[in-house]
Amino acid sequence: MCGIIGYLGTHGAVPVLLDGLRRLEYRGYDSAGLAVVDEDDIRVLRAAGKLSNLEEKAWQTPLSGTLGIGHTRWATHGAPTEENAHPQTDASGTVAVVHNGILENYSRLRHKLLEGGTPLGSDTDTELIAQLLGRETGSLGERVLRVLPRLDGQYAVVALSREEPDTLVAFRNGPPLVIGLGEDETLVASDVTALVARTRRVVFLQNGDVAVISRDGLRIVDPHGRPVEREVETLDWDPGRAEKGGYRHFMLKEIHEQPDAIRNTVLSYLNADRSGVALDGLGFEPERLAGVRRIHLVACGTSWHAALVGKFYLEELTRLPVEVDYASEYRYRAPLVGEDTLVIGITQSGETADTLAAMEEAGEAGALLGTICNVRGSSAWRTATARLLTQAGPEIGVASTKAFTTQLVALLLVALGLRANRGLSDHRDTEIVAALQRLPLAMEAVLEIDSGRYRTGVELITAADDSLFLGRGTLYPIALEGALKLKEISYLHAEGYPAGEMKHGPIALIQEGFPVIAVATAIPTRDKLLGNLMEVRSRGAALIAVAEEEAAEVSRLVDLVLPVPPVSPMLQPILAVVPLQLLAYHVAVELGLDVDQPRNLAKSVTVE
Ligand code: G6P
Repeated sequence: MCGIIGYLGTHGAVPVLLDGLRRLEYRGYDSAGLAVVDEDDIRVLRAAGKLSNLEEKAWQTPLSGTLGIGHTRWATHGAPTEENAHPQTDASGTVAVVHNGILENYSRLRHKLLEGGTPLGSDTDTELIAQLLGRETGSLGERVLRVLPRLDGQYAVVALSREEPDTLVAFRNGPPLVIGLGEDETLVASDVTALVARTRRVVFLQNGDVAVISRDGLRIVDPHGRPVEREVETLDWDPGRAEKGGYRHFMLKEIHEQPDAIRNTVLSYLNADRSGVALDGLGFEPERLAGVRRIHLVACGTSWHAALVGKFYLEELTRLPVEVDYASEYRYRAPLVGEDTLVIGITQSGETADTLAAMEEAGEAGALLGTICNVRGSSAWRTATARLLTQAGPEIGVASTKAFTTQLVALLLVALGLRANRGLSDHRDTEIVAALQRLPLAMEAVLEIDSGRYRTGVELITAADDSLFLGRGTLYPIALEGALKLKEISYLHAEGYPAGEMKHGPIALIQEGFPVIAVATAIPTRDKLLGNLMEVRSRGAALIAVAEEEAAEVSRLVDLVLPVPPVSPMLQPILAVVPLQLLAYHVAVELGLDVDQPRNLAKSVTVE
């Protein structure tokens, strides 16, 4: 979703802003812009479409100035045109702002401004913020404090004024903002990816914070102007990990990073002799856990698929009942949640608006709040008391891959940790922990399979308009995830279904050549899945299966096997998703699509 970068320093602002915007591209956007204070005037460049259009303009219209703001916009209010791109300025050209989020009192504010004779140049809610700031007097910081009570909704805003060429003001309520403290320069951005190349010393703003960044330093106040203290943190992200490193796409690189990401996640949470899980110090305190009688998992998108697998892990290993909810549903359905509930928000970014709202709702009801999250310091991280970091590193491709498999690993680790806490551990735990440590090797074997193997799969899928992904048990969520990956990056319709349900509707779709992709590794219900596959085969379906190479009963039945090495049933979902990620990737490449930034999608969905 939208990306923000602001710069105040000693270098020319434009290249720094463009570099920051490049690094934010992965979030998904449809127009971009920047503004700099150049000789006491605000100069704005904006362009619809890809960032290269803005870069072209910046090339043609060189701007100097060491203070600026930039933005990639994912349209909400108004079409993705140049007029609606950010930065937006007020009518007098005094103030420029960039904004992530949505103003809920947009219509009322817009009406009032028009009634008062303020000419509006865009359809955006963002322009209203600029206009309100422009009508105030005083310093930019003072103007912001006076305008804040008039803004309802979610916003992360960075503003500059031509009257103060040495100041940026950043304020948030909802979408995140992080300030980067560099050598003779300060940056502000919507996420750390835009900053790590210049500094790793950061301050995460909290809701209600108003940060005044000047050449004299950083001052943060609350909405009443009272100073607040925020910790300076040092990030452990390696900036190199946010670059493609020789791969054609971030998605492919991230698929290949999965063995390491899993290794790092597993090793971070094992005890000293690597025989069991140690959740000590992560906020899963034994006394608090003793009262937990049920678990709720809330998430969106791919993270929700991880939660579906997590339900199997947690119920089987802890014997506690687990509910899985879409966060966007949970927050409005008055869930039965209280002090006896452990609610875990699963989120790669830690910034998904619905997941945060669901967690907050549960927190207010007294639940023990946990998160499985990939970004230390993110909003979910701060909201939860029990926290487990997936050690996937920055994930740039919009279609989530390594975040998903590390979420599955994290859920299994949490299940083992809770099981130990409940005194249920036995020899099985040691076996699972040992198998988890071997899993990266099995995954490396999947990644070594020649990409030619996917050729037939690509042909079968691209020859049809739709396809069906089937699985059972823990592999049913993997079928959902396989279908989602294909939809996201190839724009081909695909549906995931529990194989046993297929007869109750989807079978009507099957005709000659209809692609059915089965997640068919060796779980106890595999024979039943094979029965379902016979039913579609006899109606002409083209069959692709993820299965162990040696499973003759599968290879006899299907047109193509995407092989995985044999691993224990619990680990099969983590491994079986990899060929489906690669299949979707090869289809999208074949169709010549933008793998890393698929149309209409955003990496981090910070609005409802
Ligand atoms: C967006 C992304 C998905 C992601 C979902 C949830 O839709 O495109 O890849 O699964 O948000 O994001 P989260 O950061 O909460 O896991």
